[in-house]
Amino acid sequence: MTAATNISTTNGFGVSTHSLFVCKTCASIWQEGKLVGESGGQKLLQCLQDLAQDWDLREQFSIQEVECMSACNRSCVVAFAAQGKITYLFGDLAVEGSASAVLECASQYYTKPNGMLPWSERPEALKKGILARIPPLSLG
Ligand code: FES
Repeated sequence: MTAATNISTTNGFGVSTHSLFVCKTCASIWQEGKLVGESGGQKLLQCLQDLAQDWDLREQFSIQEVECMSACNRSCVVAFAAQGKITYLFGDLAVEGSASAVLECASQYYTKPNGMLPWSERPEALKKGILARIPPLSLG
């Protein structure tokens, strides 16, 4: 049994409670106003989706493609978010080779009640590229 299986996985309606946002427009190449080829973000997204096929949290953690999270000069960019948890934004992720680290960090995020990701515990690829750590909403 993994640590993740001990935790409530959905909001009771079968909907994922955690989101991994992946910027699909990062590392795009434009020529004469047109996108050339596949962006780095699209490649990273594809790697994450492929890897997530065997991820034990694939039902609990939705991978959502988004267009630009305003950190374009720090591509590639992903974010972790969940209700009641800190939201993290990470950049400087390599197109190739960072997907497994992103999912490893997402798994850590999932197991933490408040989402806190201490630097020392994060995978190497996500130690330096942190761009934002936003507190959870306070509903009180
Ligand atoms: S294009 Fe990815 S953050 Fe702006």
